[in-house]
Amino acid sequence: MAGEQYRAQQRRATEHFFVTGALGCLGAWVVRNLIREGVGVTVYDLGASMHRLELLMEPQEIAQIQFIQDDITDTETVCRAVEESGVNRIVHLAALQVPFCKSNPPLGAAVNVVGTVNVFEAAKRAGISPVVYASSMAVYGGADLYGPEVQDGDPFHPLNLYGVYKEANEGTARIYWQDDGIASLALRPYTVYGPARDQGMTSTPTQAMLAAAKGEAYHISFGGTCGYQYADDVAQTFIALARLPYEGASVFNIRGSVAHMSEVVDAIVAAEPSAAGRITYEETPLPFAEAQNEEPLQNLLRKAPYTPLSAGIARTIAHFKQALAAGKIQ
Ligand SMILES: NC(=O)c1ccc[n+]([C@@H]2O[C@H](COP(=O)([O-])OP(=O)(O)OC[C@H]3O[C@@H](n4cnc5c(N)ncnc54)[C@H](O)[C@@H]3O)[C@@H](O)[C@H]2O)c1
Repeated sequence: MAGEQYRAQQRRATEHFFVTGALGCLGAWVVRNLIREGVGVTVYDLGASMHRLELLMEPQEIAQIQFIQDDITDTETVCRAVEESGVNRIVHLAALQVPFCKSNPPLGAAVNVVGTVNVFEAAKRAGISPVVYASSMAVYGGADLYGPEVQDGDPFHPLNLYGVYKEANEGTARIYWQDDGIASLALRPYTVYGPARDQGMTSTPTQAMLAAAKGEAYHISFGGTCGYQYADDVAQTFIALARLPYEGASVFNIRGSVAHMSEVVDAIVAAEPSAAGRITYEETPLPFAEAQNEEPLQNLLRKAPYTPLSAGIARTIAHFKQALAAGKIQ
C-alpha cells in the first residue's frame, strides 16, 4: 500500500478530533475535511445554527458528527466532554470575534480567555498534546511598529480587547507547556475569506463575494492592503498541526495572499463579470501591518496549504452560486 494511503487508513482507525467552535467558519471547514477523510469528530459548540456546516457539507456527512452543545466557559463540562468522547486530537476555535468582545468585554474574556484555559485544562487531564488553537494577527499593534512584514518574534501591542485576549491565550499555552508539558501549536490568521465566513470585523470581503453571486451591490467596510487566507487552507493547516508530534508552545503567522482591496474587487469581477461597478469599498485600511512572514510555519510543515487569491475568490463565488441554486442560502 502506498505511504499516503496507509497513513489515511491509520488515521481513520485511530484518530478522533475534538473541535470547539465548529459551528463557526473555520471550525466548519475543519470538520468538513476530517469527515471527508473518514476521521471521527466531536463538535463542542454553544451555538445551535447548523447553517455553516450545511453550506459546506452534505446531510449524510453531517450525520457522522457527534455534537455536544455546551459552553466553553464551563470548566467541568469541557473536561468531561473531552474525557467522555474519547478524543485524541484537539482543535480549539470557539471564540467571540472583535465586535462581540467590544460590545461585551466580560463575556469576551470568559469565552476567549477562560474558554482557552478550560481547553488546556481538559487536555492536561486527558493527556492530549499538542493542543491546536487560533490566535490572531490582532495580537500585533499598528503598522508603524513593524517592518513591511510582521515576524513571529515581533512584540505584541494589541489595539483591541480581542487582541488582548488572544495575547493572554498565547501566554496560557506557554505556561501549560512549561508547567504541565502540554504542547501547543497555533496560527495567527488575518482576514479569513471563503464560504461560511459571515461574521466578524473582516468578513465584509466575503459578503461582497456573496453579493456578486446574487447579482447585488455591496460596499466593503475597509480598504488598503492586508493578508487574506482562504478558509479551507487555514482549516487544513490546523489539521496538519494537530497531527504533529510536538514539543513546545509555538504560534505561527500565516501569510496567505497579501493584496490591496482593489485586487480583491478585480478578482471578484473576474469571477463574476456582472459585478463590475457594483462592488465598492471604504478607503480606510485596517490598522494593522500589511503582511505577515510565515517562513517558520513553512519550515515546520514543509509546505502549508495555499490557494492563490484569485482562485480562492472564484471558488467562493462558485460555491455561493451553487448554494443559492440549491436553496441552501438566500
Ligand atoms: N475569521 C477570521 O478572519 C479570524 C482571524 C483571526 C483569528 N480567528 C480565530 O479563529 C477562530 C475561529 O474563527 P471563526 O471565524 O470560525 O469564528 P466564528 O465566529 O465563525 O465561530 C466561532 C464559534 O464559536 C462558538 N462559540 C461562541 N461562544 C461559545 C461558547 N461560550 N461556548 C462554545 N462555543 C462558543 C460560536 O457558536 C461559533 O460557532 C476564533 O478563535 C477566531 O478568533 C479568526
